[in-house]
Amino acid sequence: MRLQNKKILITGGATGIGKASAIEMAKHGAQIALLDINEKGLMETKKQISIFNENIDYWVTDIRSEREMKKNISKAIKWLGNELNVLAHFAGILEGSLVDLENLNSEIWKKVLEINVTGTFYAVKYSLPWLKKSKSVLLLTSSGAGVTGAGSAAPYSSSKGGTHGLTLWLENNLKDTEIRVHDILPGGIETPLKLGQLNEALDNSKDTKTFEENKKSLGTPEGVAKIVAFIASDDADYLRGSIRTR
Ligand SMILES: NC(=O)c1ccc[n+]([C@@H]2O[C@H](COP(=O)([O-])OP(=O)(O)OC[C@H]3O[C@@H](n4cnc5c(N)ncnc54)[C@H](O)[C@@H]3O)[C@@H](O)[C@H]2O)c1
Repeated sequence: MRLQNKKILITGGATGIGKASAIEMAKHGAQIALLDINEKGLMETKKQISIFNENIDYWVTDIRSEREMKKNISKAIKWLGNELNVLAHFAGILEGSLVDLENLNSEIWKKVLEINVTGTFYAVKYSLPWLKKSKSVLLLTSSGAGVTGAGSAAPYSSSKGGTHGLTLWLENNLKDTEIRVHDILPGGIETPLKLGQLNEALDNSKDTKTFEENKKSLGTPEGVAKIVAFIASDDADYLRGSIRTR
């Protein structure tokens, strides 16, 4: 896999798919800059990667804050040597599982849309000028929820339909650049986000049988990370558009 010396910015690298992807891409020789709100998780990711690749650092950032995103993306790219080959944007949340829309707390709606959609906009907005400077990859994270089917939470499905729509718009808008635009649509993967969703659904439905079945069927973040590393690499030059995983 050709990732040697690739300069990669990852959001959501403290846990789950983002963390596993950071580890996988660092294994292939990439230089990794992480942004996440979870400082403890970021420290742990850095510790695990530093054992075999010293080219790793992080900036604690709330992706809801345009000011923090602008400042920290700029710092991260400076640290990467004023170059950005890949943006891999994973940061996101899922709340409101198995809640009827008429009972949904409006603050949850706003929070999910703010993190999942507006946060994605900031990540792209402040990375794009750098991605445009060379052949590069822009990878967003959508989900089957809101793209291929319903999902369990109205705000989450709406937000992931939003990130998918943004991906389609970017693909078209950037077609004359050397930026390869993708979104990844993972299936059920065992991460804090997914386990939180299953637990919230269990609380709201009291359906332990479905909870156990769903939990058993989950894939691993490492499985998705292998696909992410491929997408980020030059080996994926001929790849286009949305990628669905287990
Ligand atoms: N796990 C699944 O089954 C699944 C399925 C489809 C899509 N996804 C998507 O994959 C992506 C990664 O999720 P995951 O499953 O690895 O869960 P996760 O909870 O392990 O990872 C999400 C990351 O986003 C970070 N984050 C949350 N709010 C933030 C904020 N305000 N500012 C900065 N960082 C913030 C978290 O700290 C965490 O590190 C998400 O976009 C999620 O929607 C996951």
